[in-house]
Amino acid sequence: MSAVISLKGITKIYRTGNVAVRALDAVDLTIRRGEFVSVMGASGSGKSTLMNILGCLDQATAGEYLFEGERVDSLSKNERARIRNQKIGFVFQVFNLLPRTSAVENVELPLLYNHEQSVKDTRQRAIDALVRVGLKDRLLHEPNELSGGQQQRVAIARALINHPRVILADEPTGNLDSRTSVEIMNIFCELNDAGITIVLVTHETDIAQYGRRIITMRDGVIKEDKAVKKRRPGRGQSVMRHTAQDADTEGKKTARPRSTAPKPRGGKA
Ligand SMILES: Nc1ncnc2c1ncn2[C@@H]1O[C@H](COP(=O)(O)OP(=O)(O)OP(=O)(O)O)[C@@H](O)[C@H]1O
Ligand SMILES: [Mg+2]
Repeated sequence: MSAVISLKGITKIYRTGNVAVRALDAVDLTIRRGEFVSVMGASGSGKSTLMNILGCLDQATAGEYLFEGERVDSLSKNERARIRNQKIGFVFQVFNLLPRTSAVENVELPLLYNHEQSVKDTRQRAIDALVRVGLKDRLLHEPNELSGGQQQRVAIARALINHPRVILADEPTGNLDSRTSVEIMNIFCELNDAGITIVLVTHETDIAQYGRRIITMRDGVIKEDKAVKKRRPGRGQSVMRHTAQDADTEGKKTARPRSTAPKPRGGKA
């Protein structure tokens, strides 16, 4: 697997008045295509700063950043925006949906903003993305007509509209109850199974277990970087429960149930 993201000595210093905060301190990190990386760490440890730099939303003070082998730390703002628009999808804790705007129009927005690329089939792509996250019956609903979990699905569909190679999610389940969090995490797992590289920040250990690798940050440094041995959501057990009927119809591993399955969270909120 080739490296999608490669950081060498990435340092970020925020200066506010006379105060300088070293939010990232010489971070080295390689993420390969198809990985699902969870990022944990105390509040203020630099997780969002790292995500903003990975997503080309912000620039490091020092260090080298290669995205798919291309040096992006030295690119202009416009060039970084190009990478962001074409290759990266974002999902945040707050859904950031436009009010009084239908789900399908919210999902279309990134394509409408993307002036470099005129996409003819905008509407169809938005519908496809919403179908992919299980919202084909909610295309015309506005955010206040959707549950929190459904709004986050719209936000995920919006992140998918550009067919990104990488999805960066900063506490995507932070505003959701545990059952809805499981549904959202199952969507991330399906996207990862489909080949999208995922980097996901969370404060919750059991959410982190959906990844295949967990990075723990402290004071702007990666303190721990380990593989997940037993990955949630206990795919084996869930798939097995459905094997009888799925084996006939699908025959593949696409049977990850995304509806309820409250079991895997271990009962924690
Ligand atoms: N725009 C900014 N200007 C100045 N300092 C900042 C800025 N953004 C973050 N910081 C500081 O950088 C450090 C890292 O912040 P960051 O937001 O990356 O933490 P985090 O790990 O995401 O925390 P949380 O879990 O609370 O979201 C903190 O000490 C924070 O105060
Ligand atoms: Mg944060």
